[in-house]
This record gives sequence, structure tokens and C-alpha cells, in this order.
Amino acid sequence: MKSEPLVLGIETSCDETAVGIVRGRTLLANVIASSVEEHALFGGVVPEIASRAHLESILMVLDAALKESKISLNDIDAVAVTAGPGLVGALLVGVSSASGLALGLGKPLYGVNHLAAHVSVDLLTHDAPVEPVIALLVSGGHSSLLQIDDITSSVVKLGESIDDAAGEAFDKVARVMGLGFPGGPAIDHVAKFGNARAVDFPRGLTQSGDWQTRPFDFSFSGLKTAVARYLESTPKIVRADVAASFQEAIVDVLLLKALAACKKTGIDTLVIAGGVAANSRLRELAAERCQAAKIRLRVPPAGLCTDNGAMVASLGSLMVASGRSPSQADLEADSSLPVTTVSLT
Ligand code: KG4
Ligand code: ZN
Repeated sequence: MKSEPLVLGIETSCDETAVGIVRGRTLLANVIASSVEEHALFGGVVPEIASRAHLESILMVLDAALKESKISLNDIDAVAVTAGPGLVGALLVGVSSASGLALGLGKPLYGVNHLAAHVSVDLLTHDAPVEPVIALLVSGGHSSLLQIDDITSSVVKLGESIDDAAGEAFDKVARVMGLGFPGGPAIDHVAKFGNARAVDFPRGLTQSGDWQTRPFDFSFSGLKTAVARYLESTPKIVRADVAASFQEAIVDVLLLKALAACKKTGIDTLVIAGGVAANSRLRELAAERCQAAKIRLRVPPAGLCTDNGAMVASLGSLMVASGRSPSQADLEADSSLPVTTVSLT
């Protein structure tokens, strides 16, 4: 529909320079330039390298997205950008580009939360929003269980990881196993050849007392240590079995807690979002368990789970549609923006 807002979204919070364009809930362009190979040499994201790569790529990515969508800059109704959380130098590149663009075009600017954007990308590939939802948000820096009554204004945190994020655990375990960076896709791949029942790795915060005191929190650092100890102390290691067993432990806990949150709140829709939502075992087991528990499951296609600009444009589009106030022209990046703050005014 012509009346739906045409929104451009810019994402630069970590190592992807990305621009997405949507009209309402229709995706028109999604272009990503990644500096991951430069970071792989160091075994993790190097903030200075990420910022420089964003500066080098942003105009090229913007141009490519405009070409892909076959629109011109002047057609755009609003500009959305990840304002946080993320690496401050990296965020600054996106925020200053977006502010300049919005100012130059005379269009509203929406500084949005990267984590809420991960959840909102779901709207591009599914039918009408089914709020309220429980969202299991699992990325490289965050693992949270959220109750979302309105993605543009009401995000309540039910629990989160008290130590490593799920993606961080994948990355750290892959490193000790010599599987390279980023670790999630590597473990996902190797695990396909292993036996997930080979090693019974610990499931953090799932003892009976934990269900009383921390029902919706996660802890993955014990699991990471258990894998490292197992690798040191076991003479004949089958790497695929270790990868599969580790993956099973993490996926099992994520889903146990996500379904417990649905049960406790009476909410019957679960959205899984963030980079780790691309994990094939998480997607498979979520489908099985949600079907058994009669919970409606929504997981974006794997390509839209990891960082991209479409998710930012998607949240921007919802902000416009629900009449939310835009951000000030002097919008500042907030590297530690809480998950409950959907946008900055
Ligand atoms: O959301 P994202 O792209 O960036 C952040 O906002 O952090 O998530 C990146 C994280 C990394 O830790 C990466 O290892 C993990 O998502 N990841 C995966 C898979 N693909 C990416 N973890 C498990 N399985 C995957 N297939
Ligand atoms: Zn992310």
C-alpha cells in the first residue's frame, strides 16, 4: 500500500554495517557488509577495527540498498538507526550518518534499541503482530526473556543471563575447541555430525531452588568451564560429540525457561530472536516443544536473525505507524541502552 511508511534503517552496533529499507511490513532491501573476517584473526570483535570498517562501508551499503529497493532517497518517510546497545565507536558511525540523512532530507529520525529491533524483524515475515508475546532474545551480547505487550513501547524484562550471553558461550567454547570465530555457526555445523547425548553437560540455574529464585535467568559460564575441563581431562575426544552435547545443553535451558515464561504469564506466543536464533538445533527443538505445549512459535528466517538493517527499518516502521515521537536531531548513541528502552527521544 502506498500509504504505508517507507523507512530506511541503519545498523552499525557491532561488526555489520547494514542498511535495510521497508515499506510498512514489506522488505524492499537488506544490504550487509561485515568486517567479521578482520576480527577473526583476533578471535573476537576489535572495536577500533569495527568503527573504521563502518566508516569505510556505510556509503557503499546505503547506495546498494537504494539500488536494491529501486527507490530514491527523497521517497523515504523516516530514518531509523540503532542507538544502542553496542560498541560506542561503532554506534556513532550509524547515528551520525542517520542524523545527517534525516536532517538533510527533512524527515523524522528514530533512534531505536538494537534488541527490540531483533524481535521486530519477525513482523516482516509473519502475519499481523500477535502481541502480547514472550521473546527469547539470544545474541552475542545479550540473553533475555522478555514480555512484550507492544514492541514500540512496552518491553518488560522477566530474566536475563547473570554471566555470559548465549552467543558469547558459543563463541568462547568454539575458541577452546579451535573452531574459529564467530563460534555459533561453526558449532552448529560440527554438531550435526555428533551425538548430543554423549556428554551430560550442566544446565545452569535449573536446580529446584533456582526455579524458585531465578526462574527466568540464565547462567552459561559454568557450562563453558565444564566443556573446557572435559576437553583437558578426556584422552580421546570426539569433537563433534562435544559440540553437539554443549549445544544441546544450552538449547535445552533456553527453551525450558522460555516455555516456563509462557506458562507463568499465560502468553501463548513465543518469538525467538537474535543471532543465536539462527541455530538449527534451537529452531528444531523449539518447534517440537512448542507444538507439544500448544505454544505458537515465531522465529525469523536465519538470515534475518543475525545483525541486519531490515530489523531496524522494521522497528522504525512500527514506530511511525503507532505515532511514536521521533528522536531529537542531536540523538546520542547509548552503548549500554537497557533492553526495556525501545527508543530514544
Ligand atoms: O545478534 P547478533 O548477530 O549480534 C549481536 O547483537 O551480538 O549475534 C551474534 C551471535 C554470535 O555470538 C554468534 O556466534 C551467534 O550469534 N550465532 C549463532 C549462530 N549464528 C550466529 N549461534 C549459534 N548457532 C548459530 N547458527
Ligand atoms: Zn544483534
